[in-house]
Amino acid sequence: MSYSELLLFKRYPELVENIPWLSLGSFPTAVQKLTILEQNLEYDGIWIKRDDQTGELYGGNKVRKLEFIIADVLRRKKQWILTFGGLGSNHCLATALYGREHGLKTVLCLIDQPLTEHTQEQLLRFDYLGAKISYARNTTGAVLKGVWQLASKWGVYLLGPGGSSEFGNLGYVEAGLELANQIDNGLLPKPGHVYVPIGTMGTYCGLKIGFELADLDIDLVGVRVTERSMTNEKKAAKLVNKTAKMLQSFSDDIPEIELAPADIHIDHDFAGPSYGAVTDEGLEAQQLLSETEGIHLETTYTGKAFAGMLDHIRSKKLSGEPVLYWHTYNSVDLRDMVRKHHDFTHLPRAFHKFFKENLISYI
Ligand SMILES: Cc1ncc(COP(=O)(O)O)c(C=O)c1O
Repeated sequence: MSYSELLLFKRYPELVENIPWLSLGSFPTAVQKLTILEQNLEYDGIWIKRDDQTGELYGGNKVRKLEFIIADVLRRKKQWILTFGGLGSNHCLATALYGREHGLKTVLCLIDQPLTEHTQEQLLRFDYLGAKISYARNTTGAVLKGVWQLASKWGVYLLGPGGSSEFGNLGYVEAGLELANQIDNGLLPKPGHVYVPIGTMGTYCGLKIGFELADLDIDLVGVRVTERSMTNEKKAAKLVNKTAKMLQSFSDDIPEIELAPADIHIDHDFAGPSYGAVTDEGLEAQQLLSETEGIHLETTYTGKAFAGMLDHIRSKKLSGEPVLYWHTYNSVDLRDMVRKHHDFTHLPRAFHKFFKENLISYI
């Protein structure tokens, strides 16, 4: 994809001068009707948006965000990206991987999350990709370590958790316009409801703006997967407004968008006891989608969001209109990276305790 093909720039050419962007992924991602699942649930019109296939190296929702973020890092001539996440963070992995492709080094401040096969794999992958990892245990620790890293390095670009910065969110503004185009081109009917996991909120807020710009009246449901203090209607409305304001500051053609918390639809019932905790509903959702359609969900984000959608379908909370699940988890097989690099003693000592027991089934 090139600059001139970006829907945001096509619609609002004045943005080109002020908004950095580079191509990392393959777009548009496919939309697909889940016919076997439809039969299983006796609901006509269940669709999926395959953002698991956004990139050849690594897919998932981070690729769209990083197209804007990495371009901004390069524009500012920084050599390091400092960012934050849980021990198994997909955002951290995507940043390390695509950053490396562009000659950037990454420092990751990692906080605790429940230990699973996935978290062990991610830690090994961070190290394989040459990221510098620092164990911060909790959010306060991450802030302190981050400040220390910032002070000790020249040319550092500070990136918040999940890449949900004003620039990062634009990846999903573009994605909202992309879906509108696919509807216009007859690739799918207009969904009445779209489901997506909501964590640091950039995916949700970007889509919300994209749908507004495209005049798409869709009930966008974020299924919360992180703590409520971090992910809630008030903060999401604020992030939408802040991102929209930045866009408006660059183009008079962009309409004013000023949302209130009541305009945000978050389902809080599927997060489980903590971020990263495996829930029964998430596992059931994972099993059902795998058995019916052969599509893989994980347990921290996508299993929970899919469980939310299943519950709404089964309990007949929906309008009967088509529903679309926006799949945000990578589906590129990265097991080889772990096979090649599985000696955890290469990691800083603080991480060795997470490998007391090997949870990875294939090494
Ligand atoms: C697979 C997956 N889905 C959804 C999300 C949530 O996206 P956001 O942080 O933009 O709300 C993440 C964030 O890390 C993720 O890794």
